[in-house]
Amino acid sequence: MKALVLSGGSGTRLRPITFTSAKQLVPLANKPILFYGLEAIADAGITEVAIVVGETHEAIRAAVGDGAALGLKVTYLQQDAPRGLAHAVLIARDFLGDDPFVMYLGDNLVMGGITEFVTRFEDLTASALVLLTPVDEPQHFGVAELDADGNLVRLVEKPKDPPSNLALVGVYLFDASIHEAVRAIEPSWRDELEITDAIQWLLEHGHTVAPHVLTRPWIDTGKWQDLLEANRIVLEALAPNVEGTVDAESRLVGRVSVGPGAEIIRSTIRGPVVIGPGARIVDSYVGPFSSIDADCEIVDSEIENSVLLAGAQITGVRRIDESLIGRRARVTRSDVTPRALRLNLGDQSDVQLPG
Ligand code: DAU
Repeated sequence: MKALVLSGGSGTRLRPITFTSAKQLVPLANKPILFYGLEAIADAGITEVAIVVGETHEAIRAAVGDGAALGLKVTYLQQDAPRGLAHAVLIARDFLGDDPFVMYLGDNLVMGGITEFVTRFEDLTASALVLLTPVDEPQHFGVAELDADGNLVRLVEKPKDPPSNLALVGVYLFDASIHEAVRAIEPSWRDELEITDAIQWLLEHGHTVAPHVLTRPWIDTGKWQDLLEANRIVLEALAPNVEGTVDAESRLVGRVSVGPGAEIIRSTIRGPVVIGPGARIVDSYVGPFSSIDADCEIVDSEIENSVLLAGAQITGVRRIDESLIGRRARVTRSDVTPRALRLNLGDQSDVQLPG
C-alpha cells in the first residue's frame, strides 16, 4: 500500500494566512494540519508517500523534507496548476504503479487516524473505499447517495440540490482501476478533473465502491471559523506536558502543554491550551481552546478560543476571543493621542470590534 497526499491548490478561503504559506501548513494545536495526515499514514504502516505540490511547494518541502523524521519515504510530484484531485492521480501514475493506495487530502484531518480503513480495504474485494460523514451544507462537498441497504448508488460533486447530507471525506482508498477512471473523465464546470467523477465512473463500469460512514470527528479546514473549531477538536485530545518554566505566581488549570524554553510569569492558563517553544506569557490570562505557537509574546492581556501563529505579540489587550492571528502580527495598546484605532492590516484581513 502506498499513499498519495494532496498538498497543492491555492487556499483562497483561508486568506490572509495563506498569502504567505500553504493552507496545509496552517497549525492546529501548533502542528501543521498536513502532519496529522502524514502521521496517520505512518501509523497505518505505510512508508512510501508521494506529496503532490503546487505553487507553495517550497514551504511544503521545507516543512516535511524527505519524511524520515516521520518514518516515511517522501517523494514530491509537482503539479503545474490545481487541475483537480483526479489530475493528481494522473500525474502520480509512475509512482503508484499498480499498487493499492490511500489518497489523502492534505487539508483534511480524520481524528483517530486511518488504520481501520486501510485494514478494511485490504480485507475487501472492492476497487475503492470512500469515507462519508453527515454535514450541514452538503452543497459545498462531494455528496453520496446510498440505497436502503446502505450501498452506494451515486456520487456528485458540489450539487446545487444535494441527494443526501453525506459528504465525501478527503481520504479515499483505491486499487489500480482508478487509473482507467481518471483517464476516462472530462473536466467539470470548474475546469477540474474531479475524483468524485472518477469514482462515479467506477460505479457505472461495474466496479465495487464500498462506503464507510464515519462516526469520528472529521476536519476540513475551510474558512477561518472552521479552523478555530478544528483547533478546538484537536485540543480536546491534548496531553498535558510542561517543559518550559512556570513561576510560583502562575496557575495552570486543566490540560496545559508548555513547550521547551517557554515562560509563564504571573499568569493563569486554563486548558486545554498549548503554548509553543520559546513563548512568553506575562501578567496575562490564556483561556480554554487556545493554541499559542512558538515565540509568541502575550503581555498584560486576556485571550481565549484563539490561535496565534509563531511570533505573534499581544500587549495590553482585554479581551481577545475567537481570533486567528498570523505570524509575527502585533496587537498592542497605545496611549498616543488622538485615541483611535491604528491598523496596518494585510489584504483580506477581517477585524470585528465590539458593538
Ligand atoms: O474536503 C473534502 C472535499 O474535498 C470533498 O468532499 C470533495 O468531494 C472534494 O472534491 C474536495 O473538495 P474541495 O473543493 O474542498 O477540494 P480542494 O480544492 O480544497 O482540494 C483539496 C486538497 O487537495 C487541498 O489540500 C488542495 C489539494 N489539491 C487540490 C486540487 C484541486 C491539489 O493538490 N491539487 C489540485 O489540483
